[in-house]
Amino acid sequence: MIKTDLTGALSFIDEKELPGAEDKKALTDLLDGKIGRGGAGWLRLPEDYSDAVSAAIRSAAYQIADNSEVLVVIGIGGSYLGARAALDLLRTPYYNQIKKRTPDIYFAGNNLSGEYLEQVIALIGGRNFSVNYVSKSGATMEPSAAFRVFKNLLDSKYGAEGARKRIYTTTDGEKGKLRQLTDRKGYTSFAIPDDIGGRYSVLTAVGLLPAAVAGIDIDELMSGARDIMNKDKDDVLQYASARQALYRQGKKIEILGCFEPSFRSMGEWWKQLFGESEGKDGRGIFPVYTEFTTDLHSLGQYIQSGERSLFETFVSIEKTSAAIRVPKDGELEDGLETLAGRELQELNRAAFAATKAAHNDGGVPVIQLDVPQLSPYYFGALVQFFELSCAVSALISKVNPFDQPGVEAYKKNMYAILGLQK
Ligand code: PA5
Repeated sequence: MIKTDLTGALSFIDEKELPGAEDKKALTDLLDGKIGRGGAGWLRLPEDYSDAVSAAIRSAAYQIADNSEVLVVIGIGGSYLGARAALDLLRTPYYNQIKKRTPDIYFAGNNLSGEYLEQVIALIGGRNFSVNYVSKSGATMEPSAAFRVFKNLLDSKYGAEGARKRIYTTTDGEKGKLRQLTDRKGYTSFAIPDDIGGRYSVLTAVGLLPAAVAGIDIDELMSGARDIMNKDKDDVLQYASARQALYRQGKKIEILGCFEPSFRSMGEWWKQLFGESEGKDGRGIFPVYTEFTTDLHSLGQYIQSGERSLFETFVSIEKTSAAIRVPKDGELEDGLETLAGRELQELNRAAFAATKAAHNDGGVPVIQLDVPQLSPYYFGALVQFFELSCAVSALISKVNPFDQPGVEAYKKNMYAILGLQK
């Protein structure tokens, strides 16, 4: 299972603090439902996942794959990032370019750029497509604008009834404009439970439907999440507790780093989860994601010897399947001839060990999360692991992990600029 290794952080914090009595209480109160009511419905998702839930999602995925060469997933924030993370990590960031039997997947409604939308439309071209509109509130401007564009395209291409059959919505079970539209039009739809906020919703149809369309084994994924809930949560607590202990020492920035580029979208999901859950009331660790070794040639300098207000959390993937080796080449004469015959993964592992030691020597506390491999099972486990540790960490720092009042400020201004009613 996922392990938290704190050896690189212990010279910066008192081991006895980890986890403190209050930290343990935050976890047990959360699990016992004493705190977080109204926002902690994601805790029961792995247990509630049944054959019926699985079959409904897989049946919609088969239907999409049967009549569409492309699925457009429309959503933003928590209604977008988890699906993208699953796709990149469990298939490949080049998913749309590879030969496969499942539909291409494009994401839209995660920005307001007309350029971006035109590029997606051009890429779809004359191909058959369906749309999965994901919005809990059904009233978020970015996805709402994009949905209008794609609904219009579907209407013109397939007629109103044909379009109706190609629109799948994932939204609140009872409330909101999208639920009303869904009921009126009879779209195939999935409900997001009321007590699950966007950034904690990846293990509902929000993430599971696009994952199933991409051919990912969603049952395996949920089984990983279930095992996090069923086993002891020491590693979850260690991570949450160490983050807060470091924060109290003035380490205000957390850099999550991974040496696998396919982890990038997961890093974006993690950034939103922790940033939106913790950054409030004038407090919170600022979350940054870095891709290594790429960013060693960019942010590496700062991490090594810039301001000492940061700590790092490395996600270490223990087993990967790639076996590619550096070939022998007598012409290069660049001093790196001894690389010949070595596996790239050996170099990557060496870079990880070297980076961890160098940053640690440079005064950066390092937390290491060991993940046995990149698989649906461990993806589900990692999602549940991060959600739990995030909620506990926010509770330790006495903020509500499940609201996000701050994101309303820019929306209010934008509505005023555009002359819209909010
Ligand atoms: O985590 C959150 O709550 C947000 O990031 C939302 O997911 C995001 O704002 C999109 O909201 P909605 O699903 O209502 O369109």
